[in-house]
Amino acid sequence: MTDDSLSSHAHELDLAPAPAFAAQANGTAEMYDAAAADHEGFWAQQARERITWATDFERTLDWDDAPFAKWFVGGQLNVAYNCVDRHVEAGNGDRVAIHFEGEGGDTRTITYADLQREVCKTANALTELGVGTGDTVAIYMPMIPETVFTMLACARLGAPHSVIFGGFSAEALHTRIDDAQCKVVVTTDGQFRRGKPSPLKPAVDEALQYPNPVQKVLVVRRTETDVDWHEGRDVWWHDVVDRQADTHEAQPHDSEHPLFILYTSGTTGKPKGIFHTSGGYLTQAAYTNSVVHDLHPETDVYWCTADVGWVTGHSYIVYGPLANGATQVMYEGTPDTPHQGRWWELIEKYKVSILYTAPTAIRTFMKWGDDIPAKFDLSSVRVLGSVGEPINPEAWLWYRKHIGGNTAPIVDTWWQTETGGIMISPLPGVTTLEPGSAQRPIPGISAEILDDEGMPFTEAEKVGYLVLTKPWPAMLRGIWGDPERYKDTYWTRFGPKYYFAGDGAKYDEKGNIWLLGRVDDVMNVSGHRLSTAEIESALVSHPAVAEAAVVGASDETTGQAVCAFVILRGDATDEGDATVQALRNHVAHEIGPIAKPRSIMIVPELPKTRSGKIMRRLLKDVAEGRDIGDATTLADSSVMSLIAKGMPGGG
Ligand code: WTA
Repeated sequence: MTDDSLSSHAHELDLAPAPAFAAQANGTAEMYDAAAADHEGFWAQQARERITWATDFERTLDWDDAPFAKWFVGGQLNVAYNCVDRHVEAGNGDRVAIHFEGEGGDTRTITYADLQREVCKTANALTELGVGTGDTVAIYMPMIPETVFTMLACARLGAPHSVIFGGFSAEALHTRIDDAQCKVVVTTDGQFRRGKPSPLKPAVDEALQYPNPVQKVLVVRRTETDVDWHEGRDVWWHDVVDRQADTHEAQPHDSEHPLFILYTSGTTGKPKGIFHTSGGYLTQAAYTNSVVHDLHPETDVYWCTADVGWVTGHSYIVYGPLANGATQVMYEGTPDTPHQGRWWELIEKYKVSILYTAPTAIRTFMKWGDDIPAKFDLSSVRVLGSVGEPINPEAWLWYRKHIGGNTAPIVDTWWQTETGGIMISPLPGVTTLEPGSAQRPIPGISAEILDDEGMPFTEAEKVGYLVLTKPWPAMLRGIWGDPERYKDTYWTRFGPKYYFAGDGAKYDEKGNIWLLGRVDDVMNVSGHRLSTAEIESALVSHPAVAEAAVVGASDETTGQAVCAFVILRGDATDEGDATVQALRNHVAHEIGPIAKPRSIMIVPELPKTRSGKIMRRLLKDVAEGRDIGDATTLADSSVMSLIAKGMPGGG
């Protein structure tokens, strides 16, 4: 079936929840009413039902110092206790927490009792290495169980972690370690990627060549590759963690104690350290995983394919599912190793019932062909989720048909690193689905769409800006070390009453919300946020580059792709492909391979307004192969024809 015929069938599908599904669903229609009637009361109830508090809270929300929120004030809890120990105490120690599958086929089954022992040992080891409550720990690791042990051990100690995605470069690692003043770095010798070991520790060594606050580097041996060793600083996991006692008394922490920092791209070159705290974050992570993914921990096998280096991995691999006592699959490798059916093979093997993944992956599978998933038994799948970018209706319908057996509801979940948890999504037992739309705020969340003047509207098909209108428990508490930037970025554009998400949105005739992508200079490449400014500053840091402009051009598979336009310095020679390759590699070195531009065009000039602002809109037209739009505000109108001449097929 072609994409066109698929989408023209969308309206014929019955996308209301099946009665049998609705009857067992965790999320109910009554929740919308309850939350609308008493916003704080609703969240207080979620917090008390889903979380075990060492001390109950006195006040649900303190918004007196808005936009700085405090949730569940006076409450005390230990996040790791909630994710691990209490399940063992409740008699579920034998339940599998993690079915780990290495890329090469090695497996590890970790029960909740095992997890408790491993987390305790790791917490004891970190204590020995000098980590105390309030110290920050950098985690630069692949998708292996030790990464989860480390995150939970940090949570147990009240030592905020900063996970840095393994695809980021030494340079990026250095800035993040420095910004959060991390005392310890946890890493591995390497990770398995497409059947081969790919080193990780060298990036840590390179990052730590600059002055830095790091005292110890704890290294897991994963790939057995040789590594440089810094005596006194570096210690092996198997030397330090393995010999620790497997018990550890978890101390309660304040509900507002920082749990983690996670860096994300903003509109300037400097990444933002988004920080989250304990009680509110855990409440919303657990609640959403329960009502949106419809997790039933006794019977479901859950699999979120994200990397723990992103917020999706934090909230929907580690904190939400483990707080709920889920059994989940964790997979180390790429989807096409050793063959393109690997994911479906894992679903068949572990009888995965809930799958949470990203549109870019779904579009890749569509390209690989329907016959690949068709070879596997996917009948265990009963809920599908999508996150990271808008899912186009064609991909939605393919996912439903080829992975969901034409019956599994798909939850298209909109949220952000900043929101901490899912915000806009169908509830699978309640909502009649609309392919391509995230539909409506979940119970407890309030959103509106505003016009340019900041006025809310409800007309269908009119495009505006998405804002959130009430504080929510998992909201970011700020940008690490930069409260002003927090206010300016999120609470100024439309005044202090509205959280400005940075996304365009519209309603359809039925009142569903459609997310339309970023309205700022942030790109979304394969569901990863990248900043145009950050890549531009990486490019101009190369000695051959005088000026650079970056745009996100639409891309069939990755959603958007990075396209750069570069003016070389007078004394640099344009060596064609060699120059372009050198610049691409330079960006990979400065930020990471994920930021490598798909294309770089060497141009004589950049289109600028009379006030000197680069007109990215015109560059986007070029990058997407369109006729160039209105260029009348350009200072020099001949620039665009010069640029267009340089395009393949231009002239
Ligand atoms: C985009 C990822 C449309 C959006 C959890 C948002 C989406 C940014 C969706 C956050 C979705 C995420 N539909 N757009 N279902 N999910 N986005 O911080 O632009 O990596 O602002 O968090 O991704 O990306 P982040």
